[in-house]
Amino acid sequence: MNLSQINEIAFEADDRYPPLLQVLLAVQDENPNHYISESAVGEIARALHVTRGRVYSTASFYSEISLTPRGRNIIRVCINAPCENAGKKEILEALKEILGITIGETTDDGEFTMESVNCLGACYMSPAIKINDQIFGDLTREDLPGIIQKFRKERKEEEEHATGESSIDF
Ligand code: FES
Repeated sequence: MNLSQINEIAFEADDRYPPLLQVLLAVQDENPNHYISESAVGEIARALHVTRGRVYSTASFYSEISLTPRGRNIIRVCINAPCENAGKKEILEALKEILGITIGETTDDGEFTMESVNCLGACYMSPAIKINDQIFGDLTREDLPGIIQKFRKERKEEEEHATGESSIDF
């Protein structure tokens, strides 16, 4: 993302949230590892005429923003009371079994990072998790292998598609 794109996001920023936060989220979305790199901090500071310290402190304040690389897919497990009471523990255990990671960790292949969240706004279908932008609710541990497999399959198809495209010989 270049300076003019950053400025454009800041210019169109929604009044409800600080422009810097919106820029951070947009820049993070562009990064395949879902984080704000050191060079991105510098670019944002330059574009918005703020100090790097201000960018760092804002990025550190919001749990949605990461300053370290994360997996390609972010799994957010709701740990609030309604989801806790509806079986969050089993969901977390199933994810640990399938992926070999717990909250705060990333799989060795860099595909999945697991994080906790206080509510996904999906309490009516507790227990719930969110993977990237998709919410999965009314979960049982039996649902998890299929869900994770779906993301792995999509990744494999993307790779095959990319390989197929690059191997066309003119
Ligand atoms: S408490 Fe889990 S989605 Fe709201």
